[in-house]
Amino acid sequence: MKLNGTMQVNTAGHLEIGGCDTVELAREFGTPLYVLDEACFRQNCRDYYRFFTHKYGAEVVYAGKALLNLAVCRMVDEEGLGLDVVSGGELYTALKAGFPAEKIYFHGNNKSPAELGMALRAGIGIIVVDNMCELELLDGIACDLGIKADIILRLTPGVEAHTHEYIKTGQVDSKFGLVIENGQALAGVKKTLEKSGITLRGFHCHIGSQIFELSPYFDAAEIMMSFIQLVYEKTGYLAKTLNLGGGLGVYYVKGDKPRQIQEYAEVVMSAVLRKVKEYGIPAPKVVVEPGRSISGPAGSTLYTVGAVKEIPGIRKYIAVDGGMGDNPRPALYQSRYEACLANKANQMAGETVSIAGKCCESGDMLIWDAELPVAAPGDILAVSCTGAYNYSMSMNYNRLPRPAMALAGGGRAELINRRESYGDLIKNDIIPGRLAFKSDSK
Ligand code: LLP
Repeated sequence: MKLNGTMQVNTAGHLEIGGCDTVELAREFGTPLYVLDEACFRQNCRDYYRFFTHKYGAEVVYAGKALLNLAVCRMVDEEGLGLDVVSGGELYTALKAGFPAEKIYFHGNNKSPAELGMALRAGIGIIVVDNMCELELLDGIACDLGIKADIILRLTPGVEAHTHEYIKTGQVDSKFGLVIENGQALAGVKKTLEKSGITLRGFHCHIGSQIFELSPYFDAAEIMMSFIQLVYEKTGYLAKTLNLGGGLGVYYVKGDKPRQIQEYAEVVMSAVLRKVKEYGIPAPKVVVEPGRSISGPAGSTLYTVGAVKEIPGIRKYIAVDGGMGDNPRPALYQSRYEACLANKANQMAGETVSIAGKCCESGDMLIWDAELPVAAPGDILAVSCTGAYNYSMSMNYNRLPRPAMALAGGGRAELINRRESYGDLIKNDIIPGRLAFKSDSK
């Protein structure tokens, strides 16, 4: 397993994160446990800030869909980043954490009237309008409130990033955004400029996620800049903001070759600045929205090994106390992960095993064919790079409570999400009167 962030093996031969012995963390907080490496999370924020904001004056907006809770909001704010939210729930979390409303971008392809009203009343920075229905709805709500909504329009530049089919969003046939290629986007801009409840600040695109190549970013930036120029020529409107989305890939398994944040910044900014020069227009404020590349490598999940089962001549299964409930990515996207035995971190690999989750699904397999030291019930398995789209996509299938999350740094670990209890699982269940126990109705 590749050691991310502050990970190291301590003198006891245990995996350590943020100066904390993960075997101790498992004992103290129980398993499954998400562990967030504070220094790693903050360093990733700082790299983005340094290479985009400090160097180019660009704005970095952390995509909360990757991982969001109150503590994460606090760290993102402390590191000087903005926040991208995609639902009333994420917005609520940010506001409750005291995140500055004006630094929030609100995304989503089907925001409800209630969500739009909530965003406007909270005074959030920018609403990223996805389609014409939303434009009409937002204009109406803003006019009713007697305010003007600052928006950018989401466009599809037609760039296909080389990534998993399910998470490709920059192409023309997408549920997101207005298509540039067929004139829909230009028509949308003209319509937007007529709205009395709306101020158009610029444009947005997002070409996909877990992207290793930088050329799609270069192409998307150029296409978006050409669109800005086209709009300027056709309408006299000059966009002030160009949001190029997120998507930078991270290392999960051997063979993954993620690009550095610095290289990514240089590619994106060079494409924008080249076009600025070519068209002789003022440079728009560039915005990027990284999620995975900030939180992904900062997260790990600890499990306790339970049943070990060998099918002679076929395979050895090792079952852990979590699985697709806390990490649905292998089941959804065939995503691959690396793992180690946290309590045997300095032992050599001794066998090839497949790690099974505990859900009632054959597809609940976390890792196929992992090379690990010989495992026994009670060992602690650590899976790396689970900081993005794990907790945020977790679920209660089979009524498994969601794990706790601990923030580890400087040798100290504190809970930032409590473990769900069985009580939490039934807290919204209701027994209607006609199903009450007879003794209840007496
Ligand atoms: N901006 C927009 C508009 C997005 O839709 C996304 C991700 C991001 C930014 C952040 O992208 P990132 O830097 O995290 O790649 N559940 C999938 C990933 C879905 C990505 C959705 N949008 C997965 O687990 O791989």
